[in-house]
Amino acid sequence: MKLDYRYYKTIDSTNLEIKRLYAQGAKEGTVASAGTQTAGRGRTGHRWESPRDVSVATSLLLTPPADLPMEKLPGLTILAAMAVAKTIEEEYHLTCEIKWPNDILVGKRKICGILTEMDAANGSVNYVVVGIGVNVHQTKADFVEEISDMATSLDMELQKEHGEDKRASRRTIIRGIWENFLSYYQDFLRYQGSLEGIREDYNLHLVNRNKRVKIMDPAGEYEAKAVGMEADGSLAILMDDGTKRCVDSGEVHVRGLYGYV
Ligand code: BTN
Repeated sequence: MKLDYRYYKTIDSTNLEIKRLYAQGAKEGTVASAGTQTAGRGRTGHRWESPRDVSVATSLLLTPPADLPMEKLPGLTILAAMAVAKTIEEEYHLTCEIKWPNDILVGKRKICGILTEMDAANGSVNYVVVGIGVNVHQTKADFVEEISDMATSLDMELQKEHGEDKRASRRTIIRGIWENFLSYYQDFLRYQGSLEGIREDYNLHLVNRNKRVKIMDPAGEYEAKAVGMEADGSLAILMDDGTKRCVDSGEVHVRGLYGYV
């Protein structure tokens, strides 16, 4: 796959742009990035603010091979999380943690969110959009009050960690993320959608690991201890009665993070 970068000064949402480009015949590897999004989309129907050229909003078009089982696709979000963590660590020497499955944290605050969307018909996938938003140049005052204690930006962390007035580069981040993603994606396809190749590294970054977590199951929330990510992308947890379970999807809160005490 060859990466084909397109840049927009302002757009509604880079995920929506990839969907439009696919409809116009764009190929796997097309990347849409924007300085500002006017209708950025977050998970669970939330908005994702990308104002005034202060963040990275970037999305990639994938057309996974027909023989890749559909249930492996959530693994793409896990690969994206690793690609972001690796890029931030390599380029800026900031330590990243990952909140399963795909929030990236620096200093226990969220610096990046990932929204993967797909289009499928008759049991097979037409395309997948992996959309990544990274907070880059925001100051504390740029975050709305509800999230200002939970969010951070690369510039804020560089200032804290290295005492520098160094500004992170959005272009470097975009290129780094997708190049790292591509290399993980090639292995992922080679091993039929297994995450075994990144499991160990991912678990070393996992903020949930060995922590008390609250699983927001639609059938009723419960607490357990998180063990680690499995090769299928699920989160292994240890119940209080000693039994092991795997959580495939949904919200998992980690004690000590985002106000869960
Ligand atoms: C989250 O809620 O944590 C996920 C946020 C994902 C935001 C990114 S920004 C680039 C891409 N375009 C969108 O509209 N959303 C994703």
